[in-house]
Amino acid sequence: MEPMTYVLFGATGDLAKRKIYPALYNLFVDGKLPPSFSIIGLGRRELSNDTFQSQVEQSLRQFSRRSANAVSSSDLNAFLSAFRYHPLDVNNTEDYRKLLQLVKSREDELNMKSNRLFYLSVAPEFFDVIALQIKESGLGDTEGWKRLIIEKPFGHDLSSARSLNAKLSEAFEENEIYRIDHYLGKSMVQNLETLVLANPVIQAVWNKDHIANVQITASETVGVEERAGYYDNAGAIRDMVQNHMLQVLMMTALHLPSQITPSNIKDEKRKIIQSLQPINKPEAALSVVRGQYASGSVNGKDVPGYLEEPGIEATSKNDTFVAARLWIEDPKWEGVPFYIRTGKRMSGKSTRIVVEFKNPTKELYLSRNEITSPNLLVIEINPNERVSFQFNGKNFASNGNLEPVQLSFNAEQDKLPEAYERLIFDALRGDATFFAHWNEVELSWQWVQPILEAFEENLVPLHSYEAGSNGPEASDQLLEEDGFEWWLDP
Ligand code: BG6
Repeated sequence: MEPMTYVLFGATGDLAKRKIYPALYNLFVDGKLPPSFSIIGLGRRELSNDTFQSQVEQSLRQFSRRSANAVSSSDLNAFLSAFRYHPLDVNNTEDYRKLLQLVKSREDELNMKSNRLFYLSVAPEFFDVIALQIKESGLGDTEGWKRLIIEKPFGHDLSSARSLNAKLSEAFEENEIYRIDHYLGKSMVQNLETLVLANPVIQAVWNKDHIANVQITASETVGVEERAGYYDNAGAIRDMVQNHMLQVLMMTALHLPSQITPSNIKDEKRKIIQSLQPINKPEAALSVVRGQYASGSVNGKDVPGYLEEPGIEATSKNDTFVAARLWIEDPKWEGVPFYIRTGKRMSGKSTRIVVEFKNPTKELYLSRNEITSPNLLVIEINPNERVSFQFNGKNFASNGNLEPVQLSFNAEQDKLPEAYERLIFDALRGDATFFAHWNEVELSWQWVQPILEAFEENLVPLHSYEAGSNGPEASDQLLEEDGFEWWLDP
């Protein structure tokens, strides 16, 4: 791997401490950082290099999956000595010039070619300002590569996403922009590609002839937490559906490419999102369910309703739950509903994909008054990482009655790299497979836009659901209309 400078905007923020420093540290310990590298942290405050380095060390001790004590102190010191701090006001051109001098002097000191990665761990309203300043200050003029990493949200709706992208494109080429969607860093989401594409038996049944429906759930037990300002303007539709849920849907529905390459996967994902049947604003209520949590009990603890949460207006109509029925208009998936569902303050934390297969043998045992259960393939993404297959068997402890049996492959392995480790490593070596590309982001916004407007204009009823439940009943009805039900815990 080539030497590089990692320029981190927002170096004193929460994400840097919890995720980015531990990820870099684990990459270093695993020998996955280049032999020469320089890390420059930026923030508004004045900080000495020593103080900054000890803050980084503290965050490793607190948040790294691998304790800082598990590494020799000389390795730890070598890692920390790569860090420098530079105070920067994102709007001040002069600060960027000084930053360029620091970046260059470190490159000279370490005798490194200039490859620069700019990581914007800051509020999204600063993305365009920073990108343009990088260009104008000369920070973006490198002998080698330059890359930009940003985190969602990429825009607030279709038009703001387009205008943000247009500004970013003035400073960076599309292939230099790495948009993190941390769901794409999760091991089971990355594994989907192999599970579905590299197994001929699964490929043979991965289509409308055998699949009855697909259910993608991301339920959470947490509420709005300390993010009222952001969340009340975003809602589940922007926070989870436009990005994570649609990305997981694309990864699930991919067609088999001739070869697995980053660009083939990107093309196949684009084809899926492009084939999503639009949900028109006037009919949104037929396919989309919107909910907001009321008070209730989660994991045995009483919790307030959304409207009682600090920082939330008592009249807020924000969605904390969304379920929807989607159709992919291509011959492979014709007639197969894809259901998505995400919500805060639900009964359990679970991110999973359930693929329900058609069941032509349902009535095979009717003479014995028994029916068979459909085969299910369950891919658990979080907090468990497991794949299980449900089939029918006989239970001889109860007179040989039919019983659904699960065969499961537990993918959980201790001390696996975290999502951020995998994603930062990929960005450093220039592999964009598991990042959100602009056309996917734009097409996702395009699909979501009429729903945003329908919510705004109150064309979709806002159902209340009790905290600790599985969401509003309307979301069960959505599946009942098609003769299905949510598989909660098969
Ligand atoms: C984030 C959302 O992107 O994903 C949060 O902003 C949500 O609201 C989180 O809680 C869920 O991520 P995970 O990895 O816990 O499923």
